[in-house]
Amino acid sequence: MTILIDGKKIARDIRRQVKQKIQQLETKPRFVVVQVGENPASTIYVQNKLKACRRVGIETVNVNLDSDITEDDLRGLIEGFNNSKSYHGILVQLPLPEHIRLEPVIEEIHPNKDVDGLHPLNVGRLTVRSQIPYLHPCTPFGIVHMLDTVYPKKGSVSGLQRKKIAVIGQSLIVGRPLAIMLQNEGATVAMCDKFTRNLEQEVRGADIIISATGVVGLVNEELVAATGKEEVTVIDAGIARLGDKIVGDADLEIYDKVHAITPVPGGVGPVTVAFLIRNILKAYCIQHNLPIPTFH
Ligand code: GUN
Repeated sequence: MTILIDGKKIARDIRRQVKQKIQQLETKPRFVVVQVGENPASTIYVQNKLKACRRVGIETVNVNLDSDITEDDLRGLIEGFNNSKSYHGILVQLPLPEHIRLEPVIEEIHPNKDVDGLHPLNVGRLTVRSQIPYLHPCTPFGIVHMLDTVYPKKGSVSGLQRKKIAVIGQSLIVGRPLAIMLQNEGATVAMCDKFTRNLEQEVRGADIIISATGVVGLVNEELVAATGKEEVTVIDAGIARLGDKIVGDADLEIYDKVHAITPVPGGVGPVTVAFLIRNILKAYCIQHNLPIPTFH
């Protein structure tokens, strides 16, 4: 029987713990989302994030900017939130309009308020496995947590140690930081993307396939069989619109042929939002010199 990794349940569990911890704080964490322009998909994602925050007691501010705002003005706005002690988490929803460069905007966000975990200092701290508290990118953090439910820790040893994992997709938000995080867990990672020549050869020996490409049907029966493994786990972080449905990268035909899989919708998506609220709480604690909360 295939294990269906229930992202909604995992997310509920985290939200409950975050809510409890926020109730014990003297003041409430406050989170600001900045959206530039009116990309309809971004609006839905932003509303989901804000709703999840409010449900656990995080105060929210939603800033909607015209798509013709300049990069300098956007950076100036972020600087204001950096300097205000009453804002603990800042997120600039992506994608940005073409005339605004991503890098200067991300670098403008104070690393301790960067709840997306995309600032180079946070990515660097992840890479060197820093002991200084820092913020992790939400989707990769959530995916590692979901994998922990299938491959539990043995004492202090990660269940992912010695696993071979094929990561398909090299985005800044998912694939790249995820590969580093998995290596930090002791896994061997094959980094691929939708352009990889002979993907089937690259996934050979993989215990786990993680796909985040938006190419519908990329993870099909042939690809799973090409691992040569009896028990393959698939994490589907893809998202695409097919008619009026949201679908992932995994072909439906593989669902009864794998060891475990994350459904779309109801898999990686809700867990990502849960890890965002977890990051907002962590950001608050870093800024107030409080102990970093632990979760189970
Ligand atoms: N757009 C789609 N996913 C994300 C995300 O995780 N963070 C940001 N900032 N923008 C996104």
